[in-house]
Amino acid sequence: MANKAVHLPVLNLGATLRKDKWWVGPATTFVILTGFIVYATFRAFENDYYQVGPYLSPFYSPLIPTSGWGIPLLSPAMLILPGPAGFRLTCYYYRKAYYRAFAMDPPACAVGERNRHRYNGETKLFIFQNLHRFALYVALLFLVILWHDVYKALWFRVPGSDETTFGIGVGTLVLALNTTLLSGYTFSCHSLRHLVGGSVDSYSTAAFGQLRHTLWRGVSRLNQNHMLFAWTSLFAVAGADVYVRLVAMGVIQDVRIL
Ligand code: FES
Repeated sequence: MANKAVHLPVLNLGATLRKDKWWVGPATTFVILTGFIVYATFRAFENDYYQVGPYLSPFYSPLIPTSGWGIPLLSPAMLILPGPAGFRLTCYYYRKAYYRAFAMDPPACAVGERNRHRYNGETKLFIFQNLHRFALYVALLFLVILWHDVYKALWFRVPGSDETTFGIGVGTLVLALNTTLLSGYTFSCHSLRHLVGGSVDSYSTAAFGQLRHTLWRGVSRLNQNHMLFAWTSLFAVAGADVYVRLVAMGVIQDVRIL
């Protein structure tokens, strides 16, 4: 029997029979992501208040001094932010979020979209999305650096000496919370799930099958909350930077807990 072409109805942008507030999700995404991009850009150009005591802002970690390079406006943050930004930009979850919120292509399920007849998927302009696996490798490297920052945030300088002493401040907890949520976001990545458990016909006969199966189950469990990690880690990284900035500016004081 010959295949019959199926013609889906073409809806105008925003046209829908849905009665719920479908636009709340994309609108919220638009506001939050725009706010984050504006703030991160401001901080990258500010090039100040990113380090105080044992604390280093995640926006400036790893800290690569650029002051002697002679390039106007270049800050350490500009060198490293493309790493985490590329990871989020190509993230499977964020693609859905910003395709809906920014491109409105589509704005939501069962809602009319733009450019239906010119849809190229991620084969042309958006072909870079296929690089997510490589962005993951970079993100894993950043995690090692950020956990090292948390370790350094446990060592406070003894006044009047070059010695350091172990301690915990509110800033330590802020940085630890941020890195924990970033770890949750990274270890729940769809690409990582495929990396550890994909391309296997049978775990019982594959090389390192038992180990891979255990890892795959762990990543799968985290993966169920990938969206939650995506948002909480976004707020946490901005919050950690705001905290370090305010302490460095003297607006608030860090409190030593231990
Ligand atoms: Fe979201 Fe990999 S799919 S970080």
